[in-house]
Amino acid sequence: MSTDSPKTYSIKNYGCQMNVYDGERMAEMFESQGMTPADEKANADLVVLNTCHIREKAAEKVYSEIGRLRRKDGSSPVIAVAGCVAQAEGGEISRRAPEVDIVVGPQAYHNLPEMVAAVGRGERVVDLDLPGLDKFGKLPARRKQAPSAFLTVQEGCDKFCTYCVVPYTRGAEISRSWSELLDEAKAIVDAGAKEITLLGQNVNAWDGEDDKGQMQGLDGLIRALDKIPGLRRIRYMTSHPNDMTEGLIAAHGDVEKLMPFLHLPVQSGSDRILKAMNRSHSRDSYMRILDRVRAVRPDIAFSGDFIVGFPGETDADFEDTMRLVREVGHAQAYSFKYSPRPGTPAAEMPDQIPMHVMDERLQRLQAQIVADQTSFNERTVGRTCDVLLERPGKFTGQLIGKSPWLQSVHVLAPDLSIGNIVTVQITDSGPLSLKGEPTMRAAA
Ligand code: 5AD
Ligand code: SF4
Repeated sequence: MSTDSPKTYSIKNYGCQMNVYDGERMAEMFESQGMTPADEKANADLVVLNTCHIREKAAEKVYSEIGRLRRKDGSSPVIAVAGCVAQAEGGEISRRAPEVDIVVGPQAYHNLPEMVAAVGRGERVVDLDLPGLDKFGKLPARRKQAPSAFLTVQEGCDKFCTYCVVPYTRGAEISRSWSELLDEAKAIVDAGAKEITLLGQNVNAWDGEDDKGQMQGLDGLIRALDKIPGLRRIRYMTSHPNDMTEGLIAAHGDVEKLMPFLHLPVQSGSDRILKAMNRSHSRDSYMRILDRVRAVRPDIAFSGDFIVGFPGETDADFEDTMRLVREVGHAQAYSFKYSPRPGTPAAEMPDQIPMHVMDERLQRLQAQIVADQTSFNERTVGRTCDVLLERPGKFTGQLIGKSPWLQSVHVLAPDLSIGNIVTVQITDSGPLSLKGEPTMRAAA
């Protein structure tokens, strides 16, 4: 650690979009204190590792990253370990890696500037409080935004799926308030965003009182956001099947800004495994939800999460998952090998599945998912859709944006800029992206 107060910072995010959002808010906080981003992590005075604990070897990765931060002269920057590994490992981190100055949980990072000051006075700081949503009221206002922005509306989880560490690292389900969220959404749009993705570990469990004192669910919030001029697209993730309310399903049918894409993890296609996972939905109840969403929004694209090799998963259970995947035909999906998380019930279950079996199952599942994604993309060819341009492409005049169905679309459009929404005809497709040609420019 260097003793001068840090002038440059670097934040490395691991894991989910909620960490990306937290990382952005940390950056805004450091910049409001006069710090600037370091050109490279190696040169930063302050490095934040914003960690994720959801799957394998998370803690090991963090320790090896800490080792790499040591400079040639033996010194190191001020190092803060934030996020879910910090919450799970606590003070153990600075015992194992003495160069770590700060260990800060996901609900306490608004205190980082004071912690950095304390480090300057020679202290080491561990703050793992889970004080609900205090931090949001203490963070500086939102600044310049990319065309597509994240907004955390809810944190934590009460579902206690037996494999998952989130209820322990992020705490209980808690929703941010209506007025705070509408204010932040307006600020994000004023700062340049055209699209907002509402985030939460259980985003569709969001609830709160509106400005008239009426209880609202996520659909109510989405309908209020729909009225913000300048906001063109709304998305949300990650949802739990049990919180897909009538109202939220209906919103997919009649809120035009709500994009036709739903990330709804199912984890397994076997009822026996779903029960052991404590998912509290069945294969059939999950499929019925998809049908109801399809009924109000026929062009809806589905995404999901899958775990293979949960303890006790037989070949027949895995075949049930493969069958579900083929039936749904996802536009995209994430799949993981089960990883025992210390302190979770599944880590103690008998019949842990050998690695080679998990490897084999994962390969088969991923091959199916890639095939479905490729065929979904192929079916988009010839269609006309709007693309929100988000970043430059590899070639001169090329821009890359997102279709309504969250596909990456490469567009040759030298006269357009990032942040424009352009109507394109899709001309070509691959497993990971599409090509489109502008037909006419939609009002940006
Ligand atoms: N092992 C493997 N995958 C997991 N996930 C959560 N916990 C575990 C675990 N212990 C996956 C789930 C979840 C996604 C965010 O990560 O599929 O939906
Ligand atoms: Fe983890 Fe289940 Fe909660 Fe999702 S719903 S965060 S998988 S416990």
